[in-house]
Amino acid sequence: MAATTANQANLRQLVAAGLEATEQAMLQVIDSDVDVLRDASRHILGAGGKRVRPRLLLLSYLALGGRDVAYAAKPAAAVELMHTASVVHDDINDHGIVRRGRPSVNSVWGRTFALLTGDFLFTAVYELMAPYGRLNVDLAKAATALVEGETLQASAVKNNNLSREIYMQVISLKTAALFRAAAVIGAKLASAEREEIAALSDFGFYVGLAFQIVDDILDLTADEDTLGKTSGIDVQQGRGIAVALNADPGDQGNGSNGKHDTVDDIKRRLLEGDTMDRAREQIELLIASAVSCLSGLPVSPYRRELEALATQLVSRNY
Ligand code: IPE
Ligand code: IPE
Ligand code: MG
Ligand code: MG
Repeated sequence: MAATTANQANLRQLVAAGLEATEQAMLQVIDSDVDVLRDASRHILGAGGKRVRPRLLLLSYLALGGRDVAYAAKPAAAVELMHTASVVHDDINDHGIVRRGRPSVNSVWGRTFALLTGDFLFTAVYELMAPYGRLNVDLAKAATALVEGETLQASAVKNNNLSREIYMQVISLKTAALFRAAAVIGAKLASAEREEIAALSDFGFYVGLAFQIVDDILDLTADEDTLGKTSGIDVQQGRGIAVALNADPGDQGNGSNGKHDTVDDIKRRLLEGDTMDRAREQIELLIASAVSCLSGLPVSPYRRELEALATQLVSRNY
């Protein structure tokens, strides 16, 4: 019992130290002499965010025996900056006006500077990752996937053909690939065995898929104050899990945007049917798959914390 408590305290300390070093690494690398870039970057980073991806990276590292959290912090910062860059750009595309409880970068500085701030955050990743050799390949693949996913999504919205299949492809690319990279990079930094890296790769991927489906449900069910970002815009703009689940099998159209329907009409219809139950079922399956990936890893408080990171997702208030 005493040993367990000591382990828990040690875990909390190491994770907190890793996350703190991650914050410092991010703030240092975005300290541009160009006011707009520095101010807009501080605005979006200072607003917080859940920091799920750096936590995943750090826990993966710790679960596989890594202990030098300062060493893992720069890749964790790189992953979080890539994610932050993607939401800054995403808000331009999605017309999001609130992000992390603050006005989005595009609504404060306008589209041009938001575009450039996103670029700046993406390029900061190069500097952070420079000392990390082949791990750059894992992150570069995730970066490519992210852009491919956002592009496929925009095309599907434009062509009004977001099927379930395309939706899964989109979220695999735009969200799950970066979760996977975070877990894989953490494992590789700890010099894990090939099977352990593969297990964490799958774990990160399943968690990432579930995370995006939860986010899509929250867009429908939660308000802006709870979410800290503009809500209700997925259905309005023809994307998200609810739109995909309502696509008739084999149908090219998504079937949920009748010409005369208001957003509230569409929302009501989606919430009345069994769409949400089907989405929740998928989330539970994905989380069960994720948790089963952890079975080959050494038992430790860090492994339990990875499991908690996954299962807490299911209990997020959606
Ligand atoms: C939002 O990610 C974008 C998605 C991939 C769903 P997060 O929900 O992790 O956003 P922050 O970092 O906490 O603001
Ligand atoms: C975000 O998807 C995916 C990215 C990779 C940026 P969303 O469009 O659902 O993200 P939010 O809801 O605006 O955070
Ligand atoms: Mg968005
Ligand atoms: Mg969303």
